[in-house]
Amino acid sequence: MNIELVNPFNGHQLTLSADGLKDNGLIIFPNENGAYRIVKDDNYSENFGYQWNKFAGTQVDKTSKLDISKKRFFAETSWDATDLSGKNILEVGSGAGRFTQIILDFTKGNLYSVDYSNAVEANYKNNGPNERLQLFQASIYEMPFAKAQFDKVICIGVLQHTPDVEKSVQCLIEMIKPGGELVVDFYPITGWWTKLQAKYLLRPFTKKMTHEKLYKKIDRNIDWMIKTSRFFSKIGLGRLFNRFIPICDIDGTLPNNLPYDQLRELCVLDTFDMFSPQYDQPQRINTVVKWFNKYGMQDVWGGYIRYENCKAAVVKGTKP
Ligand SMILES: C[S@@+](CC[C@H](N)C(=O)[O-])C[C@H]1O[C@@H](n2cnc3c(N)ncnc32)[C@H](O)[C@@H]1O
Repeated sequence: MNIELVNPFNGHQLTLSADGLKDNGLIIFPNENGAYRIVKDDNYSENFGYQWNKFAGTQVDKTSKLDISKKRFFAETSWDATDLSGKNILEVGSGAGRFTQIILDFTKGNLYSVDYSNAVEANYKNNGPNERLQLFQASIYEMPFAKAQFDKVICIGVLQHTPDVEKSVQCLIEMIKPGGELVVDFYPITGWWTKLQAKYLLRPFTKKMTHEKLYKKIDRNIDWMIKTSRFFSKIGLGRLFNRFIPICDIDGTLPNNLPYDQLRELCVLDTFDMFSPQYDQPQRINTVVKWFNKYGMQDVWGGYIRYENCKAAVVKGTKP
């Protein structure tokens, strides 16, 4: 492993112990429930802590018995599992650990996984303890690592939820060592209509609701929304009308032919995930490509990648 740990607030070197990260022999970032805590829970991503602890196993392949996370991870990265043996991988914004599980179970890489929220506890329940996994509750802007050490960095489904997306990309790039690679995916801006949908019309209100209230509202309404959305899809009007139903995009983001109970649970989770975040800032693929180039990446590629019936906006590149 041998990743140099650094206190992001004062630049001091940190040493790792089972109880916490030490600065000058004193534990300053304790290990609680499987994760080193660089920050407290009360920050803008608290909704994600609530969400991922409530739905800890819902999207994790080994629990759901689906293979959608595996397909998405390998489709987006194009990485060969055997090439990752012994490599140091950084995952930022890991949530409940759906991709943490894929990296641990299908590669022999060493994984440093970071999330700003208390979701690290759900991740530890799903994936810990594992000698190839270190979990940190920390922000993308203040990660406890010296720069330029990681062979591979991934950040999946996170950038749009950070307050300064360009700075987030810059912070990820700083972590990669020469010859290393970065892969990100994010919500894309596809045209003037991107924000013309129920999500963006209602979010100003829903993001201010308590998590419990929002969750209950979604749970109470999910069945008619699934029915209505499926009806429009069946008669060929899904693309036109489903964006105005306050439910996640079933056709574009979920596998076909799921048992109803599983579909329902995934829809409640994804709909909560649409309405609760503080930040939801889709980006143009070209803009993210431009930032990769601006911060020194080479062989930068941006575009859509398909897996199952889904597609993701992805940008990737290599550090010279
Ligand atoms: C939509 S979830 C995606 C989680 C996971 N990558 C997945 O695809 O299931 C976004 C995650 O980004 C995390 N996040 C948001 N802002 C962050 C920041 N500044 N630093 C690190 N993680 C952050 C949230 O806590 C949340 O768990």
